Amino acid sequence: MSTLRVKQGPAATRVLGVGSYQPERVVTNDDLSETMDTNDKWIRDRVGIIERRFAEKDELLVDMAVTAGAAALADAALEPSEVDTVIVPNCTMPAPIPNAAAQVADRIGVKAAGAFDLNAACAGFCYGLGIASDLIRAGSARKVLVVGAEKLTDVVDPTDRSNAIIFADGAGAAVVGPSDEPGIGPVAWGSAGDLVDTIYMRDHRYLYQEGQAVFRWATTQIAPIALKALELAGLTPSDVDALIPHQANLRIVEAIAKKLRAGGAREDMAVADDIKYSGNTSSASIPIALDHMRKAGTVKSGDVVLMVGFGAGLSYAGQVVICP
Ligand code: UT7
Repeated sequence: MSTLRVKQGPAATRVLGVGSYQPERVVTNDDLSETMDTNDKWIRDRVGIIERRFAEKDELLVDMAVTAGAAALADAALEPSEVDTVIVPNCTMPAPIPNAAAQVADRIGVKAAGAFDLNAACAGFCYGLGIASDLIRAGSARKVLVVGAEKLTDVVDPTDRSNAIIFADGAGAAVVGPSDEPGIGPVAWGSAGDLVDTIYMRDHRYLYQEGQAVFRWATTQIAPIALKALELAGLTPSDVDALIPHQANLRIVEAIAKKLRAGGAREDMAVADDIKYSGNTSSASIPIALDHMRKAGTVKSGDVVLMVGFGAGLSYAGQVVICP
């Protein structure tokens, strides 16, 4: 009987660098109210968005992912040749074939990369980060680029006021590599497929969501996942320096933060409110928020960051990350 050799990687990983990209075009609430029955006050009060970014027609998901991914590599001071795997969490590629990841890898200059897309909708980035970390720890990859990228304007009916005011375009990326000290905690993930009908593509064309049902689910079921991620990392709420939930709705973000504070999180814990100027960019929202918070100095190197994503599936995932 032959015995197969198996690989074993380093015990721990960390995020080595972060980057993001948003399209040039800023769309305000007043801009939207010119084409549909909505207004600035309703959007700010109910969702928290002040403005968002829309890609131009010829600017593709892959284009945005390439810019964000290259920025993350530059932030980590890594050459593309040092990366061997590229994961692109997304749910808005124009077609299921081809995937985004192989093109992103090629255009960034990562040769012959292991490359795959991952669809866990708005939870995609946290799923991708968990898989990247485990691939390295298992010895299957050395350094992994994870790029959450979305062009939601392709799948939102521009006349549907409940969705068109929320969703936006962009990409956010992180490079993951081996570490002496643990910098990425175990992922807490799961799904609620019985609620599949609350977010789906209607007639394979436009996104449909039962906003109130998803809102109720997110405000009750997601804080416990964040707490689970903390517990898996051996931490408690008071250890958290920054909370970055998926930027779906500012009221959901605040509800999650309130529950964490009720569980012992500090009043001075930074809470991502990137949705105000970025809108809901699905799998890109968490890394975009992290990148913006680092650049603004709201999150510093060494800070304990708690991330949690949630969305269609329904699916969810969260983990603790030490800010690079
Ligand atoms: O990212 C993936 C996960 N997704 C989420 O987490 C989204 C969760 N859901 C939500 O964030 C919210 O449910 C929405 C932002 C989608 C909607 O907010 P809502 O407070 O639940 O509004 P609603 O759909 O219950 O509508 C309330 C009222 C209605 O009017 P009536 O029937 O009470 O007279 C709507 O017709 O607001 C009206 N409305 C609007 N008014 C102005 C709905 N959309 C708009 C709008 N502008 N854009």
